[in-house]
Amino acid sequence: MIIERQEDVTKAVLRELQGAPNARFKEIMGAFVRHMHDFVRDSKLTEEEFRTAVNYVVALGKASNESHNEAILIAGSLGISSLVCLLNNGDNGQTETDASLLGPFWRMHSPVTPNGGSIVRSPTPGPTMFVDASFRDRDGKPIQGAEVDIWHSSAEGFYENQDPIQADMNLRGKFFTDAEGRIAFRSVKPAGYPIPIDGPTGDLLRAQGRHNMRPAHLHFLASKDGFKTLVSQLYVPDDKFIDTDVQFGVTRHLIGDYIRHENEKPPAPDVKGAWYSLEHNFVMEAGRTKLPRPPITGKASGERPKIPHLA
Ligand SMILES: [Fe+2]
Repeated sequence: MIIERQEDVTKAVLRELQGAPNARFKEIMGAFVRHMHDFVRDSKLTEEEFRTAVNYVVALGKASNESHNEAILIAGSLGISSLVCLLNNGDNGQTETDASLLGPFWRMHSPVTPNGGSIVRSPTPGPTMFVDASFRDRDGKPIQGAEVDIWHSSAEGFYENQDPIQADMNLRGKFFTDAEGRIAFRSVKPAGYPIPIDGPTGDLLRAQGRHNMRPAHLHFLASKDGFKTLVSQLYVPDDKFIDTDVQFGVTRHLIGDYIRHENEKPPAPDVKGAWYSLEHNFVMEAGRTKLPRPPITGKASGERPKIPHLA
């Protein structure tokens, strides 16, 4: 099609899509082209701004490697990850859901750990925490034999993959639910952490005058045949950043019941000082089991990174 005027460009690109044999691909790309072309018109994008945008996309790729995924980070920082999650869970966004963001730090092959075991695999500061979680179907029936991955940051705000000082797979574990649908484990209370700002996501946050903190949380990924794979996080309510999460992940339902115990006898004799407990009942929706693609595959080496905090 010969282009006579600017409107023709959109028509020409959409016409080329008509030959695509995959109906869903055609639907998604059609909407993408229409919205992107409207975006260019609405924002009156200049040539220089377009070149800046293209460089942004290139920079996302260049900033990613086996222990860091910048594309996930920027999708989260724009609320896209959260929107996709909430539109695809809880009866397609109609009801409360235990689903939350996967985030950029899930690794496959976490060490299988018996129920009640510890996921602290190298000396790690922070108050001890005992977690008890149950997994049920929508009728309240316990789900036995679900595979549940757990991962979280240290009290210093680093996942083990970012932090050469922590042992491989520290603060990560794989559990299987018992006949009551329960898993239980011991760890340390996680801390909030800054997301990296040395790539294009940092540029985005600085341009908006935003901080780069996530409130403290614990990650869960549960799967069992017949159920939709559940990706979840439980947030720490007294975190300073609970209502300004840089990744827009905190929903009311997933603010966890982290309880501080000062003078009560801890469940293990070696616990010194105050300790925490956390209980939560997860509901899994019926559906297809499918594990997400791991955003990272390896662990960083060299020095512990220095991730600055944006005010
Ligand atoms: Fe996280």
